[in-house]
Amino acid sequence: MADTRQPIKAVRGTRDILPPDTSLWQHVEDSARRVFHRYNFHEIRTPIFEATELFARGVGEETDIVGKEMFTWEDKARAQSERSQSLTLRPENTAGVVRAYIEHKLGESGMLQKLYYVGPQFRRERPQKGRYRQFYQIGAEVLGPPSAGSESPARDAEVIVMLADLLREVGIQQWSLHLNSVGCADCRPKYNEALRAALKDVVHTMCADCRRRAVNNPLRVLDCKVPEDQPKIAALPTIGQYLDEKCRVHFSEVKSILDATGIRYDVNERMVRGIDYYTRTTFEFSHGGLGAQSALLGGGRYDGLSESLGGPKAPGIGFALGLDRFVIALEAEGVTAPATAPRAYIAPLGAGMNPEAAKLAHELREQGMAVEVGDESFRLKKSFESAERAGIPFVVIIGENEVKAGAFAVKDLTSGEQVTVSRGEIVKTLS
Ligand code: HAM
Repeated sequence: MADTRQPIKAVRGTRDILPPDTSLWQHVEDSARRVFHRYNFHEIRTPIFEATELFARGVGEETDIVGKEMFTWEDKARAQSERSQSLTLRPENTAGVVRAYIEHKLGESGMLQKLYYVGPQFRRERPQKGRYRQFYQIGAEVLGPPSAGSESPARDAEVIVMLADLLREVGIQQWSLHLNSVGCADCRPKYNEALRAALKDVVHTMCADCRRRAVNNPLRVLDCKVPEDQPKIAALPTIGQYLDEKCRVHFSEVKSILDATGIRYDVNERMVRGIDYYTRTTFEFSHGGLGAQSALLGGGRYDGLSESLGGPKAPGIGFALGLDRFVIALEAEGVTAPATAPRAYIAPLGAGMNPEAAKLAHELREQGMAVEVGDESFRLKKSFESAERAGIPFVVIIGENEVKAGAFAVKDLTSGEQVTVSRGEIVKTLS
């Protein structure tokens, strides 16, 4: 039997985000929506769980996400018309967006789709600062038929420039951008071969994941975090010299647009990102205030993903930012959210005054003002104290005499001044 006196706590790797901290979260979300709209992105909402197969095929069997980190369960059929299937809490949202693009035939419009999303993702990782099992992403994807320009390096650069705008709008300054190209279905096999050849003599000394990946998906060897394997990984060939002409030109076009718009970046040929769908451009923005989990956000191009999920050709590029990590970076840079205290505290004074207080509060709220209301049983001193603790600048006193006279005493807690104001003038005085 469970001990019913034991308080129940949030599950490991999950947490509650409480006010006033939530206002910093809202600040990031509001800034993102504002910036995305300037770039003509529109919101998409997809389910929080999907068929496991979507992630196995989309993200890749050999990735840490699919191999080790998914919250998966068998959903048993409850009626003859249903079938049992394996379901998974989404570990990321690009696969879900592309599934929705295919399912709703969004490509048939012939237009580029510019979609963004905000919501929780789930990965069973070892929790630490900046790494949670339920975490929050804001992401965006640009995809469409090639005739809509979805393959253009201008799209890659636009997404990256938008992110630099977002970081400025949010107030994060100390970021760096790391850029790479991981090639395409034509040139990647040659790089994989080079990796296999280079691994041949050393891989038997490396970890079990590396030994398996060297055979199945050598690029993923570069994701290994085992310290003893790192010197061997550092000696492996890099992708740059294996890019074919088309990928090379695409990458240099992305870089020249970033140069023209004044975005600083370093090319990091070791950065392959931990998901299999990437082709050509990949990028990460990092922040020094995050500690070991330094990636603020990451993204890249995924030109074959739609086809691998049974859809039409729909090249695309996107990113997801870690909202949890944005908030940590903002705190590290000393950015605070704007104060959100109500404007006035309505203090009913004496028996029978609650209805009058509620009436005035309702009138003020209808006019868009945020107010808080006390109780008729409170002494005036308690009302003043409550208002002060909540950071509310004005107290409106409602007693029998005030109601009869149609005028209220308004006390400015900052100056200590008290004035009598008629009902009609009250909004003006409080504003
Ligand atoms: P990702 O790099 O796996 O990419 O995740 C993006 C961001 O989510 C990371 O840079 C990090 O800020 C945050 N993040 C990831 N895991 C955690 C965690 N356990 N706790 C806290 N934050 C975390 C993707 O998810 C791709 N879908 C991005 C993308 C969109 N690529 C193309 N389109």
